[in-house]
This record gives sequence, C-alpha cells and structure tokens, in this order.
Amino acid sequence: KRKVILDVDTGSDDAIALICALANPDFEVLGITTVNGNRAVPITTENTLRISELMGGKVPVYRGCALPWVSVMMGLRPYIPQYEPADPAYAGIHRTYIEQCPPATIREEETPAVVWLIQTLMAAEDGEITLIPLGPMTNIAYALRIEPRIAPKIREIVYMGGGYKIGNETAAAEFNVWVDPESLQAVLDENIPFTFIPLDATHQAYLTEEDAQRLRRVGTRPAQVAADLVSQRIRGYSTWQKVAEEPAAPIHDPLCVAYLVDPAVITELISAHCQVDCGRGAAYGQTIFDIKNGRLGAKAPNCKVALGADRVRFAQILEELLEHT
Ligand code: BDR
Ligand code: CA
Repeated sequence: KRKVILDVDTGSDDAIALICALANPDFEVLGITTVNGNRAVPITTENTLRISELMGGKVPVYRGCALPWVSVMMGLRPYIPQYEPADPAYAGIHRTYIEQCPPATIREEETPAVVWLIQTLMAAEDGEITLIPLGPMTNIAYALRIEPRIAPKIREIVYMGGGYKIGNETAAAEFNVWVDPESLQAVLDENIPFTFIPLDATHQAYLTEEDAQRLRRVGTRPAQVAADLVSQRIRGYSTWQKVAEEPAAPIHDPLCVAYLVDPAVITELISAHCQVDCGRGAAYGQTIFDIKNGRLGAKAPNCKVALGADRVRFAQILEELLEHT
C-alpha cells in the first residue's frame, strides 16, 4: 500500500478528494492535515472532520497553519478570519460548511499539524511517504524549514495548484498558490520529486450532471455526498466560469488522487522548471513553467506538470473508488 498524507483546505473538491482517498484500498492514509485556504482553518478543520466521520472517523486529523507564510503579514492579502469570497457565485462553489454532512462529533488531535508532519516523516524510511497537498503549501513549507531532514523521507509530492495558461484567482494566479506563493517556492527549492496537477489539467477533467448522476447511482452515503458536491460545483460554475459547452465544473483536488490510482488519467505530463512569482505585482502567485528544454537558458527541471487530462477516465476512477464505500 502507498502511504499518503493529505493536506487540505476543505472545501467542496477537497471533500471529494478525501472521500476517494479514504476509500482507496491501495492507500494507507496516515493522517490528514488542515490549512487556511478556502476558508479559515477552524472551518476547514471542521469540514475535514465531517468527511473523516462520514468515512468512519479512523484517520487522525491535525489542525494546521492559520495564516500563509508571508503574504498576509506583508499586507499583500487581507486577513479575513472567515475568508468569504467577494463573488457570491464563487461562494456557491465552496459553501462555508460542507452542508451535506452534519456537524462533526469527532475532534482533531492535540498535536499541531506541522509538529505531526515532522514527527511522522522523521520516523519514516527514505522515500516512504507521498504527500498530497490540496490547498496553500503553508504547512509543508513550515515543516521543511523547521526540520529539513524530512525532505528525503518524502517519496513525492502530488500537488493540486498552479496554472500554465490559466488563472482562477487572478488572471495570472491559481487560488492555492495565490494564497501563499512563498511557501510553494520554498518547497520547490527542496528538490523533492514534485508533480503539479494545475488548472490546465483540472479544467479538462470537468464533470457534468450526467457524471454526478453516475456517482449518485453507486448508492452509498459517501457516494451521495460526493455526487451532491459535484452538483453544487456545477451550479456554482454556471454563473462564474465557463469550462465547457454544457453545464460543468472542474473538480480540481480529486484529480491528484485519480492520478495516483492511474497515471493514464493525465494525458500530457511534462518535465519543467517552475518558478513562483513572488514579486508582489500583477503576477504575484503565478507559476511560471519553463518547458523550453534548455533553450532560452532554462534551468534544470524541478517538477513535472500535467497539461492534459482524460475526463471520461477521471469520472470512471471516481466511480470505482466510491464503489469501495
Ligand atoms: C483550488 O483552490 C481551491 O478553491 C480548491 O479547493 C482547489 O484546491 C483550485 O484552484
Ligand atoms: Ca483545496
């Protein structure tokens, strides 16, 4: 079994990713860490506990960083204790709480997420643990800064974040990176095997109401929650961002899980050098992927980046995983 840790800012799509990862018989989920992102960390933690409870409540949840590393402190982001997107359509994509589940009756662990990440990775063999971060990179950057000896313990990082040709928070930046650009750059600087699943891939792997129906037909409670979250996202995207001719929504975060189940869901994966724009101008938080293979003085690749995805296979993988629930 592959040992994984999910780092999440739950969130509608994080919730689906968690359900699928916890259902995957080939994963051993060691723990789930939460972070400030879609909402403030007390809310993303509560939402994570709701999903953990839905899935049996056996995997421990650790509360992570409440603020990004640099951006809020520098006045580059507003400090909004309960981050409410200004755009009501976007607020419909991620309701504040995962309303499909009742309030959690289980609680997070006492140990802070960054401390637990360091302890768990230090106790692991080299290359033993896969990290699946699905929100701002804050927790992992802090852990690596405090204890750099954890770097070789990480088998790989599969990250939902960034965009080559697409932004969704600003014209240049994807949301997860935009919240905490410096943390992502710090993690990239560690030269850990790193795969980006950016907007370019997730927007190709959009789901429609027909796909949601197929997930719903699996019939279990987790499948119903996942299907309802897909429908919620389709409604939200209908007045926010058009991703296909028919009503549809990208379901970003679970594409990382799907890729680890079957890499063929990604149709184009390119080695590249990624640099995060930390310049605090209009492109702050942009992921600049140099894929020119050494022309124009490119630096050596420090990551792989997914530029295409097979949406039919993606929907199939989600269905297959939900059948284990
Ligand atoms: C990412 O930002 C969040 O809104 C989603 O949960 C996803 O991780 C997409 O840009
Ligand atoms: Ca997320």
